[in-house]
Amino acid sequence: MINSNEIFKKAVIEKYAIPQFNITNLEWIKYILEKCEELKSPVILGASEGAIKYMGGYNVVYSIVNAMIKDLNIRIPVVLHLDHGTSVDSCKKAIDAGFTSVMIDSSKNILEENIRITKEVVEYALKRNVSIEAEVGSIGGIEDNISANIRYADVNECIKFVEETGVTSLAPALGTVHGFYKGELNIDFERMKKIKESVKVPLVLHGGTGVNDYLIKESVNIGISKINIDTELKSAWNEAVRNFIGVNKTEYDPRKIISSGEEAIKNVIDKKINLFGSKNKA
Ligand code: G3H
Ligand code: ZN
Repeated sequence: MINSNEIFKKAVIEKYAIPQFNITNLEWIKYILEKCEELKSPVILGASEGAIKYMGGYNVVYSIVNAMIKDLNIRIPVVLHLDHGTSVDSCKKAIDAGFTSVMIDSSKNILEENIRITKEVVEYALKRNVSIEAEVGSIGGIEDNISANIRYADVNECIKFVEETGVTSLAPALGTVHGFYKGELNIDFERMKKIKESVKVPLVLHGGTGVNDYLIKESVNIGISKINIDTELKSAWNEAVRNFIGVNKTEYDPRKIISSGEEAIKNVIDKKINLFGSKNKA
């Protein structure tokens, strides 16, 4: 496993986006690694604090990913990334367990406080060769109404934030939200361009689910270097498994039930990698 700095360099130069697929359990990890290996795409495995707790802890997640890479003979670059770490403590736990990248999300605080907390993580992470992503503005949440919850990232705040914290990538809020869209999606491309021109670090787009192909391509053209996908994997799996159970009413083997969603997950991954342009970039 590597940190995200090296794969970002190539993505920025060649103008494609690296996919971050969020992991939920052992099967997700397996399907994502297998499909990305097949397509020769670098990949960032995003683990949220909730998913980490669900799987048993930071060390468990690291161990599964590490062992899976070995046993499945995965050759592509793989980054294990803490997604939306909410505290310095959770970032340190992830780093100590072997995660190669962390996101500290202190975006709910005012800028100065966001800078202070992020700096603490940067100091700890850089010494250990771990990359750091952070958020400026506020990306909307799943429960909220789109127009009510987004705080678009301010260009000057982004410049100040990157300079003062030393983060290695930046996730500015640009109009996307987590989860499915409940209202109109309004990505601010002018703001995206200005931020891209003003900061030196790679830019990350959160909330990739439900953003149509045209808007994704436009984002990649402007210079987004990483796009996060979580909800779309869960939703595709959910639909496939419900269909399977509906048809196979007497099936009780969990392996068959859980893996009935494998193809659906892999299809989403295939679509996204082709769209983001990361195929054959490993
Ligand atoms: O951090 C995770 C991603 O931003 C997930 O976004 O819910 O739109 O897939 P999504
Ligand atoms: Zn996110």
